[in-house]
Amino acid sequence: MTDSAPPANPTRVLVTGADGTIGRPVVNALLAAGISVTALSVAWSAPSPADRVFTGDAADESLVRRAFEDVDAVVHLAAIPHPGLGTAREVFVGNTSATFTVLDAAGELGVRRAVIASSINAFGVPLNRHDLTPAYYPLDELSPVAHDDAYSLSKWVDEQIGAWAHSRHGITVIALRFPLVRDLPALRTIAARLGQDSGEQARLAREGWAYLAMADAVDAVLRGLTRPVTGMHTLLLAAEDTIIEEPTDLLLDRYAPASERRRAFPGRTAPIDTSAARRALGWAPRHRLGDPIGTTYLETLA
Ligand SMILES: NC(=O)c1ccc[n+]([C@@H]2O[C@H](COP(=O)([O-])OP(=O)(O)OC[C@H]3O[C@@H](n4cnc5c(N)ncnc54)[C@H](O)[C@@H]3O)[C@@H](O)[C@H]2O)c1
Repeated sequence: MTDSAPPANPTRVLVTGADGTIGRPVVNALLAAGISVTALSVAWSAPSPADRVFTGDAADESLVRRAFEDVDAVVHLAAIPHPGLGTAREVFVGNTSATFTVLDAAGELGVRRAVIASSINAFGVPLNRHDLTPAYYPLDELSPVAHDDAYSLSKWVDEQIGAWAHSRHGITVIALRFPLVRDLPALRTIAARLGQDSGEQARLAREGWAYLAMADAVDAVLRGLTRPVTGMHTLLLAAEDTIIEEPTDLLLDRYAPASERRRAFPGRTAPIDTSAARRALGWAPRHRLGDPIGTTYLETLA
């Protein structure tokens, strides 16, 4: 199959995991942009505002094929989002079979664009039980992998499934490596707790103390659906600063002295390279922990 340019703006998007932390703000933002939504989730905590709703497993091929009716792009967020939320088999097999099912059906049915949720954990080091730190900072999409938990492995394999779907079906796939994503009030609560917890600060060194405001995550998803790119892109996302109120270089001295540092990180600069997202989608983070709340259109929706 050859690449073909996707439509500039989809008219109907299938959102899997549409009931989730990220799924609900994504559905709201799509509807606010005048894009129809088909919502799919295995369970619902509240009614979805979408006009078409499917309840069931994103690994159920027949359900997923029905959900794709009239759809021209998909946002695949459905996953068990932590290794502790199921057995290793449930997490790995559940997540990867859902991603395979959604992307293979999308490709076969002629859908031209998919945005899928990967994670900053996809390289495996952050949740690895062994005494590791990243090979180098800033973290980027080429950070060497070391997996030993089922969730991180599932996200890394999801990215490989994305590359496979692009090769097999020509569908453009954007895999977004999200760090911790919440709205700003929730992030501030987490930041206050982390300030008192040196054990967690040490653990989070492996993901560069990264976070992302929900509004910036939603913006990346919308750009992933609409920007004129083709191919398969894995893109690491993060806010400009870290979630810890200390200079990044000091944190790195303390918690990751053996890791190579490829540049200096002035102030609270996050040791995360998001330039690939900038190049592919024109995306850049616009929100920080210190911003006033409720001042942006997307944040109001979230
Ligand atoms: N929120 C974050 O901080 C964060 C960070 C990194 C990556 N991610 C990824 O982003 C995606 C969305 O995360 P979230 O925080 O919104 O998670 P969430 O748990 O809040 O939402 C996921 C939703 O998907 C549903 N679901 C799970 N497995 C399903 C399946 N097989 N079929 C159908 N529905 C299913 C769940 O019922 C839930 O409503 C996930 O893929 C997660 O791994 C999230």
